[in-house]
Amino acid sequence: MTIRIAIIGGTGVYDPNILTNIRDEKVSTPYGEVGLKVGDYQGRSVAFLNRHGAGHSVPPHLVNYRANIAALKELGVKSIFATAAVGSLNLNMGPGHFVFADQFLDFTKVRQHTFFEGGEQGVVHTDMTDPYCPELRQVLSNAAAELGVTYHKYGTYVTSEGPRFETPAEIKMYKLLGGDLVGMTSVPEVVLAREKEMCYANISMVTNYGAGISPTKLTHQEVLEVMAANAENLRKLAMKAISLLDPERGCLCQDAMEKLNKE
Ligand code: HPA
Repeated sequence: MTIRIAIIGGTGVYDPNILTNIRDEKVSTPYGEVGLKVGDYQGRSVAFLNRHGAGHSVPPHLVNYRANIAALKELGVKSIFATAAVGSLNLNMGPGHFVFADQFLDFTKVRQHTFFEGGEQGVVHTDMTDPYCPELRQVLSNAAAELGVTYHKYGTYVTSEGPRFETPAEIKMYKLLGGDLVGMTSVPEVVLAREKEMCYANISMVTNYGAGISPTKLTHQEVLEVMAANAENLRKLAMKAISLLDPERGCLCQDAMEKLNKE
């Protein structure tokens, strides 16, 4: 069965137990080999990829984003739901809320951001007017509304380099710049998915307020605890979204590179 849908599980989302008939797959790509799981849900084949590897062993700045996205492309995936634990800069977006980001700000530093490295691949400047697929965001919003969970259909996700948390001064700056959420992984993942013409949606789960807004110091343990407390909602949301997903895509993601602005 062709695999059209993938879930990228971020911090706190390590098992694909919404799926049945789960099997391990290894996919080799020009960027390295990727281990993932494939299973079935409601007659559809779904891939589940652990972003941080087995046992959360790969920190955000060292994730092999290109290999991960290339592997999903290789499998035939067209739609990606990517989960992310995030801090919030927006008092309306509190711990336990879902936010489906529609924009990002990029403050990463040491990552491979593109499949197009010049030479034979050319020099490509990819449009980022709608970085996150608007159709998938709509599907997630419908799913969240049906489930009755608290969600926000729009939000600007600031990607910080990590792996440290931010300073209060950085959080203040990100907020001034229009950020709502801060996390460490959405860029370059979303960009690479677009370069491969895949639809990509972000499912952010707010685990804490950003440093300086939060009354306490931040810990990874706190992030894990909030993720664990909301794991069931996240699972239900992913299942509902998959069941509502129309396999025919009407968005522009699939033609994103048609008119490659190659020089
Ligand atoms: N900052 C960055 N990444 C995060 C945070 C945060 O406050 N919470 C969860 N992931």
